[in-house]
Amino acid sequence: MAFLGLAYDLILAIISCFFIFMKWNEIRYRKKGLPPGTMGWPLVGETSDFLKYGSEFMKTQRSKHGEVFKTHILGSPTIISMDPELNRYILYNESKGLVPGYPKAMVDILGTNISTVHGATHKHIRGSILSLLGPVAVKEKLFPNLLKCVKSFTADWDGKTIDIQEKAQEMAFFLAFKQIFESESRSIYDSFKPEFEKIVSGTLALPINIPGTSYHIGLQARSKVIKLSREIIKQRRSSSTIHRDMLGQMMSDETKYPLNDEEIISQIITILNSGYETVSKITMMSLKYLHGDLKALQELREEHFGILGRKEAGESITWEDYKSMSFTLGVILESLRLATVVNGVMRRTTSDLELNGYKFPKGWRIYIYTREVNYDPLLHPEPLKFNPWRWLDKKLESHKYNFLFGAGGRLCPGKELGLVMISLFLHCFVTQYRWEELEGEEMVKFPRIEVPNGLHLRISKY
Ligand code: HEM
Repeated sequence: MAFLGLAYDLILAIISCFFIFMKWNEIRYRKKGLPPGTMGWPLVGETSDFLKYGSEFMKTQRSKHGEVFKTHILGSPTIISMDPELNRYILYNESKGLVPGYPKAMVDILGTNISTVHGATHKHIRGSILSLLGPVAVKEKLFPNLLKCVKSFTADWDGKTIDIQEKAQEMAFFLAFKQIFESESRSIYDSFKPEFEKIVSGTLALPINIPGTSYHIGLQARSKVIKLSREIIKQRRSSSTIHRDMLGQMMSDETKYPLNDEEIISQIITILNSGYETVSKITMMSLKYLHGDLKALQELREEHFGILGRKEAGESITWEDYKSMSFTLGVILESLRLATVVNGVMRRTTSDLELNGYKFPKGWRIYIYTREVNYDPLLHPEPLKFNPWRWLDKKLESHKYNFLFGAGGRLCPGKELGLVMISLFLHCFVTQYRWEELEGEEMVKFPRIEVPNGLHLRISKY
């Protein structure tokens, strides 16, 4: 009997604690003037609904609370904004206390980098990135090497069945890696590559540091990449060989943007990580959409065979040829839009602010959720249709609510590099091959586009 009484008291105590904890959570976020919305469970908030139901969760919350609402996701109280004008204001006003604010897991795994610094430090790091891979660097230095790498990467696919998800990730990584470490051996590439999938998965996880969690594995992958990079820098310092790749440029005494070793390693991780997900998923989705739209594929092929037709045998395509690929650009931007490869960007307030009539407390995250703009029928008539032709009207790319590559002082510095990588891939692929998509691959669209079992294509010579 005494045992039963004890068990009863224990259950009662647990239930009471639970309700006190829930009440505490509710009171904690019941400040006057905050946007409407719900904060979910203590500590974890609404993270599991957000990750599980993705864009449906966002749509439901918007229908209940409007374009601006509060929630608690990925370990932090967060205000989600789907209001294009407010989003624009936030992106262009970093100096008014609206700095980048990516989730803890991302910051811990990627470390101090361009997205965690502001003001003069950001200017310096961004200057360095732009000098390495901005439009001028791509045009004047990187283009021939990128073409060579894409050609060799796509050289022997005839008769094979490939998983384009895996291949596109490999390509995005390989192209970035070869620009940073042009002359390093294959074994270093093989050591870096598997660590990056772990890094990408870890950055999207809850920051729970116990063995087996994606976050823990991501942190371990980060340590390994740092160790490998330190070894390469040390080896290069002890040799007199001059390297003309990105690492060589960063280590050079003549660089306009001097960096210490920690900053160099951070730039390496940033460059490898930034294009990995975006470039690979746009590449995969372009082929998926083109497979379902023969008219668009035909027009794309005509553009590329037209360029080849103006060349002598064996003559390579040039920067000017790339710049003339307007339909290809349409295919890329349309795939990026329709698949919503980037759902939005994140900011953090550095002081209490008032925006759109609501309080944005100091230290809260803001999720500038741009996904819905991609399906806005006023901006994109028939928004669910793959229509690369819509981008031939240049006004759309420069539209004030087009945030596909961000906006303001954080506008993607790798935009041109990413566009070149995908354009060169499409050039090599559609002029050499035709392909059939194997049926039955299920696709997950949130928080990142993923085909869990891979997207398999049967390739043959065109
Ligand atoms: C082609 C596909 C790409 C897309 C759609 C894309 C998208 C974006 C977006 C939306 C932002 C803004 C983030 C923010 O405001 O917080 C951004 C920033 C950035 N992107 Fe890209 N990106 C792409 C490719 C690349 C590539 C290939 C690289 C470099 C290898 C790169 C490097 C960066 C860096 C370093 C930033 C941070 C800029 C800063 O904070 O000043 N991106 N990108």
